[in-house]
Amino acid sequence: MSEAAATAGAGDIVLSAQALVMRFGGITATNKVTLDLKQGARHALIGPNGAGKTTLINLLTGVLQPTAGRIILNGQDITQLAPHQRVRLGLVRTFQINQLFDTLTPLETLAMTASQQQGLGGKWWQALGARKSVVERCEQLLEQFRLTDVMAQETRMLAYGKRRLLEIAIALACEPRVLLLDEPVAGVPAGEREELLQTVAALPADVSILLIEHDMDLVFSFANRMTVLVNGMVLTEGDPDTIAHDQQVKAVYLGHGDEINEALAVANHEGADHG
Ligand SMILES: Nc1ncnc2c1ncn2[C@@H]1O[C@H](COP(=O)(O)OP(=O)(O)OP(=O)(O)O)[C@@H](O)[C@H]1O
Ligand SMILES: [Mg+2]
Repeated sequence: MSEAAATAGAGDIVLSAQALVMRFGGITATNKVTLDLKQGARHALIGPNGAGKTTLINLLTGVLQPTAGRIILNGQDITQLAPHQRVRLGLVRTFQINQLFDTLTPLETLAMTASQQQGLGGKWWQALGARKSVVERCEQLLEQFRLTDVMAQETRMLAYGKRRLLEIAIALACEPRVLLLDEPVAGVPAGEREELLQTVAALPADVSILLIEHDMDLVFSFANRMTVLVNGMVLTEGDPDTIAHDQQVKAVYLGHGDEINEALAVANHEGADHG
């Protein structure tokens, strides 16, 4: 743990991974990973392919049970809780693209999620007709995620970027306190990227976010804190400026394309400001 994290006190830490270990047979995908997410964080988790980023998200969300270590959410040990129990406590990840309901529209999908969230179970069609709160929440989310113009189209007809926007909208409809985003812009065509980047940048400030992303433009425009994972271990953690100047980090990314080095060069010139 860094000195800053050690002296910050536990009060503003919403999610804490403590010495997490995940072994698959002989592979140690997660090797004593400790990571604290602060209230309102814009925290990026970066690292080369196979570093263990998705495995860590799977541990945090309960898809995987760790071989060792603990996960603390708002002071509560959630290590043994099922994924849906963690969602109820406000720990939400973006839904994978193949988990969207293809034959429902964005409006229907969001109404289903929002009505479930408001304790109305699966009766979203009734909720949509009768519950002002559900309708209002759906309208708000459709607007925020620029889905209003396609809200009545079947999800399978949507452009890829719109589907990814819908994924994040669904996660927000679960009213998260902590949001885990696993590569939100991966595979999105250049023409649709900007809309997604702007939407991610405009996520509510009080939601604490851990972002996994290979796109260094997004990482450096988004994050105020970064953890670098390599071979299942935390290589280093720091603010974007520190990470941008870290020789070890640069070395890790050498030979993996110069994307990070370009982004690092930009970060060196511009700081970590948006734009
Ligand atoms: N279910 C599994 N069974 C066995 N090995 C696994 C399993 N899931 C992940 N691994 C291994 O764990 C390591 C970390 O994988 P992980 O998917 O977490 O990496 P990642 O950082 O998300 O990579 P990428 O950037 O490519 O998405 C890899 O060596 C991977 O092969
Ligand atoms: Mg991954």
